[in-house]
Amino acid sequence: MTTFRAPGTAFRASLRVPGDKSLSHRALIFAGMAAGRSRVIGLGTGDDVAATRRCLEALGVGFDGDTVDSPGVCAWTPSKKALDAGNSGTTMRLLAGALAGRPFKSTLVGDSSLMVRPMRRIAEPLGALGASVDIGPDGTPPVTVGGGALHGAHVHVPIASAQVRSAVALAAVQAEGRSTIDSPAGFRDHTERWLVSLGRAGRRSETSIEIDPGPLPPAEYPIPGDLSSAAFLLAAAALRPGAEVAVRTVTLNPGRTGFLDVLEQMGARVQRRFIGEVHGDPVGDVGVTGAGLHGIEIGGELAVRTLDELPLVGVLAAVADGRTRVSGAGELRVKETDRVAASVALVRALGGDAEEQAEGFTVTGKSKLDGGEVDARGDHRIAMAGAVAAVACDGEVSIRGFEASSVSWPEFATVLERTWSSP
Ligand code: S3P
Repeated sequence: MTTFRAPGTAFRASLRVPGDKSLSHRALIFAGMAAGRSRVIGLGTGDDVAATRRCLEALGVGFDGDTVDSPGVCAWTPSKKALDAGNSGTTMRLLAGALAGRPFKSTLVGDSSLMVRPMRRIAEPLGALGASVDIGPDGTPPVTVGGGALHGAHVHVPIASAQVRSAVALAAVQAEGRSTIDSPAGFRDHTERWLVSLGRAGRRSETSIEIDPGPLPPAEYPIPGDLSSAAFLLAAAALRPGAEVAVRTVTLNPGRTGFLDVLEQMGARVQRRFIGEVHGDPVGDVGVTGAGLHGIEIGGELAVRTLDELPLVGVLAAVADGRTRVSGAGELRVKETDRVAASVALVRALGGDAEEQAEGFTVTGKSKLDGGEVDARGDHRIAMAGAVAAVACDGEVSIRGFEASSVSWPEFATVLERTWSSP
C-alpha cells in the first residue's frame, strides 16, 4: 500500500516530464523499420516503452544509448520466442502491423491484462491487406501474424483508434500498391503526421490518409514530454485554487489535448504555447492555474481526445460544482482495466458520488473528498489518478498496487510529492 497526503498550500512548480509514451513506441518502431542508423532522443522511461524496445531487439534491431541501428524491416529475423508486449496494447498492436508483411510468422503475447484485450480490431483491417492474423477464439491474444504478401486496399477502421490505424499503416507501407485508411475523428494522429513528413503518406482529409508503400528512411526523433503524464500534475494544480503547474515541451497533438479543453471548460485557467514541431507533430509548453471547478458534459470527439485522461476527469468532477457526465467513452471499458468501473470505484472509495453508464460515467461534485483506500486494479493511470486525488481529500489516500504506475512513469510519486511541496 502506498500512501499520499497533499499539503494544504497553493503550490507553484515548473518542470519537464519524461518522453511521450505514444511517440516513444512509434520512434522505436519507425527507427527499427528503417535500414541504417536513426537517433531517438528523450525516450519515455516506463515499462511499456521498454517492452517495445525488447521486442525489436529480438527481431535484430540494435540499440546503444540514443542510437538505433537496424538492418531494416525487410531484414528482420524471426524471434526465437514469442514477443512479450508486457502490459502494452500499443506495443502489441503496432508491432502486429509492422510484422504482418514479413515472410515469417511471429507471435505476440503479454501480461494477464493484455491477454484479455480485444485484438479482432487489428485482425480484421490487417486481413483486408491480405495479412494472415490468428487470434484466440474470444478475439484476444496471442496474436500470430505474418507469412504472406500484402496488397494495398481501402481500409475503413470503424473506431477512432490510433493503435488500429497505426497497425494498418505500418503494414500498408510494406504492401504491393497504395492503401487508404479512414476512421472516425478524434484519434491521436502521430503516425499519420510522421509518415507524411517522411514521404510515405499523403493526407486526404483529417481522418483519411493514403499510404505510399516503400522503405522508411532512417531519421532523428527528438521525443517531447508526455502530455498524458503531465496531465496528472496539471490536474493537481486544477484541484487547488491558486496553485500553478507549468510543464515545458510536451506533445500538443490535437488528439492528445482534449484534457486541456476539459480543464478550461471546467473553469481552470489553461495556457498553451506552441513552440515547434517534430516531423509535423506539434510541441509546446502548457500551464494550469487552479480555480473553482464546475461540472460539464463530455462526449463525442472530445471524449476520444481525452480518453486516457478520463479517470482524472472523474477525480476533478468529484469536487466540481454540479454534475459532470462522460458519454461515448465505451473504449474505456477495454483499456488496461475497465476504466469506467475503475474511475467510478476510485471516486466512491474516497467518499465521492459517481455512477457508471454503459459508455461512460456521471459524477456529482462535493466540496471535499474524505480520503480512503483505492485499488489501482493493475492500471497505471488509475494508480496515478488516485495519488493526485489526495489534493482534494481531507485525509490520506492509500493505493493498493501503486507500482503499476511504472508502466508509464516510474518516477511519478517522487515528482508529484516534489510538485505539491514546492513553494
Ligand atoms: C495509443 C492510443 C490510444 C491510447 C493508448 C495509446 C497510441 O488507444 O488509449 O494509451 O499510442 O496509439 P486507442 O487509439 O486504441 O484507443
